[in-house]
Amino acid sequence: MGRGQDLYKKAKKIIPGGTQLLSKRPEMFLPDFWPAYYSKAKGCKVWDLDGKKYTDMSYMGIGANILGYANEKVNQAVKKAIEQSNMCTLNAPEEVELAQLLINLHPWAQMARFARSGGEAMAIAVRIARAATGKDKVLFCGYHGWHDWYLAANLADNKALDGQLLPGLEPKGVPRGLRGTAIPFIYNDTECFLKLIKKYSDEVGVVVMEPIRNFKPNKDFISAIRSETRKRKIVLIVDEVTAGWRLNLGGAHLTLGIEPDIAVFGKGMSNGYPMGAIIGKAKIMNKAQESFISSTYWTERIGPVAALATIKEFKRLSVQKKLITTGKMVQEGWARLAKKHSLEIKVEGIYPLGHFTFISKEPLVLKTLFTQEMLKKGFLASTAFYASYAHNKSDVKRYLQATDEVFEKIAKAQKSDPKKYLDGEICHSGFARLA
Ligand SMILES: Cc1ncc(COP(=O)(O)O)c(C=O)c1O
Repeated sequence: MGRGQDLYKKAKKIIPGGTQLLSKRPEMFLPDFWPAYYSKAKGCKVWDLDGKKYTDMSYMGIGANILGYANEKVNQAVKKAIEQSNMCTLNAPEEVELAQLLINLHPWAQMARFARSGGEAMAIAVRIARAATGKDKVLFCGYHGWHDWYLAANLADNKALDGQLLPGLEPKGVPRGLRGTAIPFIYNDTECFLKLIKKYSDEVGVVVMEPIRNFKPNKDFISAIRSETRKRKIVLIVDEVTAGWRLNLGGAHLTLGIEPDIAVFGKGMSNGYPMGAIIGKAKIMNKAQESFISSTYWTERIGPVAALATIKEFKRLSVQKKLITTGKMVQEGWARLAKKHSLEIKVEGIYPLGHFTFISKEPLVLKTLFTQEMLKKGFLASTAFYASYAHNKSDVKRYLQATDEVFEKIAKAQKSDPKKYLDGEICHSGFARLA
């Protein structure tokens, strides 16, 4: 065990939960051996606290680093902003430039507000939407952060059943008074959506969804959502925190034929520097003035500067095209190699955000074994791959070569007791997203 694991043991004693993000807990990958901390990262390479170098074929900053780590162009812009002070009594002019750029890229929107993380940007969007409609209930599908409006979905009528609907998202501390204000529907299940919107009809002010995640949205699903929300004067929010900027320049809704009332961006837009944006129709966005929505660090300069530089690079390098090609190579590689070794897996996700699941009695054991063996070969790997511009063909080739060898080992392990092949504990499963 390396210095990273030692530090993590200490962290767990003085930081509740060990880290600030569930998806960064070493237990989610390889409880006893995940390097846990980095000393530096560049492109798609990562160095741990012992100076060991890895190729990151997993989550690339949990989805934040589409251009790769420590991108030169973005860092240059950020360094200049630091030199000229990232904070001041006056405002950062880049904020206006970014608002204009986002509006130009999304012609249905006329106004923008900013925050510094995805979850808080979503909370702002829901606040504005509720202010605009005067109605409390939110229908949603997918994951949208940790805030009260969202976790309220996990407050059941019976306290003992709290936390059942979105497993793993504990709502303790969320006021019980919010029970019944956030109601989930299933992505691509038009009937489920129509049933709920009819059931709660006059009480619903907001519908929240990701434009795309694992599957493309069905046409009838999208058109039912848009026509019902229009008819009932409900605000439709699309959450582009993770899907945005990966398939095209801007929100994925642009290419899926969804015209929302509000769209929300987060980590995908600023290559690792904290940023969040809420864009929307003027009539609705102006309601932000009738509710107190204000925070000091939403005004600092690094976020908008990094976002402007990132979006410029997205455009200059046709980044999204490469993400799709790279992600496709990896997804096809998983499927081909699984077949070669007679392993049953299910591959899902849009090309830039792919993942696979072992179809087995012990999927978590096999997942842990995969991460364990890939780590030995110099890869940070799990059963998901978030493509970045920094991943080159040679990285993918080396990764698939290693995957070939590791799948062979897993196939062999599966014939006896795969647990015996693990050097430590089985990884945790985390929370399951509602489809
Ligand atoms: C779709 C979606 N919305 C919101 C969030 C929350 O963003 P953040 O972790 O920046 O608060 C995430 C994070 O993964 C996400 O995937």
